[in-house]
Amino acid sequence: MHSIKVLDKEFEPYLSEKEIQEKINELAVQLNKDYAGKKPIFLSILNGSFLFTADLFKQITIEAEVCFIKLASYKGMTSSGNVITAIGLEANVTGRHIIIMEDIIDTGKTLHHYLPQLASSGPASVKIAVLLNKKEARQFSVNVDYTCFEIPNKFVVGYGLDYDGLGRNSKDIYQLK
Ligand code: XMP
Ligand code: MG
Repeated sequence: MHSIKVLDKEFEPYLSEKEIQEKINELAVQLNKDYAGKKPIFLSILNGSFLFTADLFKQITIEAEVCFIKLASYKGMTSSGNVITAIGLEANVTGRHIIIMEDIIDTGKTLHHYLPQLASSGPASVKIAVLLNKKEARQFSVNVDYTCFEIPNKFVVGYGLDYDGLGRNSKDIYQLK
C-alpha cells in the first residue's frame, strides 16, 4: 500500500482491505448469533455505509432484511447544525429489531438527531453497528453496540468514505497525512 492523493490532500495507508474484511466477518458471526430467529432489519445510512453494509450483509446467514436511508447535516447559523432526512425510511420498523449500519461516528450529531425519530416508529430494539468509531471526537452521546475499529480523531477516506465526494472507491482506508 502506498500514499494516495485525493484532490489537494495526501493520505497514507491506515487499514488494509484484509484487516477490514476480517473485522466485518467477525462482526457477522456475532450478529448471526445475537439475532438468530429475530429477523432483524439492517438500516444502512447512505452514502458512506454502502460498502460496509454490502460486505457485512453478504456474511449474514440468518433471516434478515436490509434498507437504506440518507441523512444530510446542514450547518446553519449555529454550530449545533441540523440533520435532515434526504431519503426517508420505507420499511415498517414497528415491532422490528433494527441494526443501524454507519461507516463512521464522529461527533455523534447525525445519530443523536436521528435516533429519537426512529424510536417514535416503535421498533422492538435498536442497536448501532459502526465500522469506524472516532470516540475522541464525540460531542453528542451515542451508545455504540458493535464497533469494528476505534480510530483517532483524524480524517479518513476510502471504503465508502469520501473527501468531497471522492475516494470512496478504494478497498483500503487511508488517513490524512
Ligand atoms: P457525525 O459527526 O454526525 O459524523 O458523527 C458522521 C458523518 O460525518 C462524516 N465523517 C467523515 N467522513 N472521513 C469521512 O470521509 C472522516 O474522517 C469522517 N468523519 C465524519 C461521515 O459522513 C459520517 O457519516
Ligand atoms: Mg455516513
